[in-house]
Amino acid sequence: MWYNSILETIGNTPLIKLQKVAKDVKATVLVKVEYFNPGQSIKDRVAIKMIEDAEREGKIKPGGTIIEGTSGNTGMGLALAAAVKGYKCIFTTTDKQSMEKVNLLRALGAEVKICPTNVEPDDPRSYYSVARRLSEEIPNSYYPNQYDNLSNREAHYETTGPEIWEQTEGKITHFAAGMGTGGTITGTARFLKEKNPDVKVIGVDSVGSVYKSYFKTREFDKSEIAPYLTEGIGEDIIPKNIDFDYVDDVIQCPDQEAFDTTRDLARKEGLFIGGSCGAALWGALEYAKRENLTEDDIMVVILPDSGTRYVSKIYNDEWMIRNGFMKPVATRIAGHVISMKGDERTRLVTAEESDSLSDVINKMNANGISQLPIMKGDEFTGSVTDSMILSQLIQDPGAQTSPVSEIMDAPFPVIEHSTGMGEVTALLNRSNPAVVVRMKDGSYDIITRSDLIITLSANES
Ligand SMILES: Cc1ncc(COP(=O)(O)O)c(C=O)c1O
Repeated sequence: MWYNSILETIGNTPLIKLQKVAKDVKATVLVKVEYFNPGQSIKDRVAIKMIEDAEREGKIKPGGTIIEGTSGNTGMGLALAAAVKGYKCIFTTTDKQSMEKVNLLRALGAEVKICPTNVEPDDPRSYYSVARRLSEEIPNSYYPNQYDNLSNREAHYETTGPEIWEQTEGKITHFAAGMGTGGTITGTARFLKEKNPDVKVIGVDSVGSVYKSYFKTREFDKSEIAPYLTEGIGEDIIPKNIDFDYVDDVIQCPDQEAFDTTRDLARKEGLFIGGSCGAALWGALEYAKRENLTEDDIMVVILPDSGTRYVSKIYNDEWMIRNGFMKPVATRIAGHVISMKGDERTRLVTAEESDSLSDVINKMNANGISQLPIMKGDEFTGSVTDSMILSQLIQDPGAQTSPVSEIMDAPFPVIEHSTGMGEVTALLNRSNPAVVVRMKDGSYDIITRSDLIITLSANES
């Protein structure tokens, strides 16, 4: 079996159940991973549909030039289609977009013009205006205009919606997606609601975009517009592709939460995705918590693109620190090390003074840990490490049955979550392989030497 061109591989992306990042909500959370498309984003679906509709309507002729204002992903889809079908491409984009996206478009043979972000959409320098002007000036050119071209939302009505319906066997109860042009949410929601009008649709917007207030009042409030760094979602215009009649709620996601969730998805679920994916998931989870979704609910969240386009931004600690999304190591506190441990941050494993040494060894093995605090009631009274247990057993193999209190060392130091990193580092010396941390909520966690090494090396990268 083979495909006739790369374009036939667009769509039919997998739906994947989140295992860890959604564990605070009861609903089943499934993500539709759109980086499986050949251009690594959901926009391949839209690009091919806009071009094929234009060919059918005679709007583009062989040898023509495709001109579009794009943040990169639509450009990538259009460039793929143009390469296969033999068209030229000129794209306009803003100086907010990552260079990876621009270079990818150039790699596929497109010309890219970078325009200023912070100008009005109708300013002649804006990327919308430049694209429109070029399409008027260049003969035999076609301006797909993903914002107002309704082939965009039709692509999702014809493909994204039916795929989700089939993949969930019609059991989907909630659908969440970021809103850029609005094509994804409107087209997919229309299909799903036609199948089952009870499916609830949640649109995710950025703080600094006009959508949320427009959704509430149906009025364009220019005062809502503010700069933000999440790429691909939120607008300062109302495109024709968005139809809020299909949207039941809108949640605005701040950049910080978008980027933290993006990095979590990569580190905890192995989903190497872009910043608007983190935003979409954060919005979906906020909704699920607020509305108390239950075990019976199945929520599908669209993850529109791949992390490869953001390696110099969201996945780069220096960029995160420079933009205020992460704290440099020197100003970090113990609590930051715990949060960087991610999912390894299970409950603190301890043993009782009266437990036998063999029980303690089993506990350490079962949890894959090499040190353990020992407690008497609520108090930390001692500690053991694997190297100290080993030297005990070499001296006296019969020690296995003795209570651990007979061989344990002094307890690990107990510090507050707000203790500065200087003090944490000083405490983790030869005689203290770990420190116990009292968290804000009164629970306890632990920082070991290897946790510290991981934290410090993550910041070096
Ligand atoms: C990375 C990314 N996420 C989300 C979206 C939003 O999708 P839509 O334009 O269908 O609303 C876009 C659209 O440009 C995008 O590029």
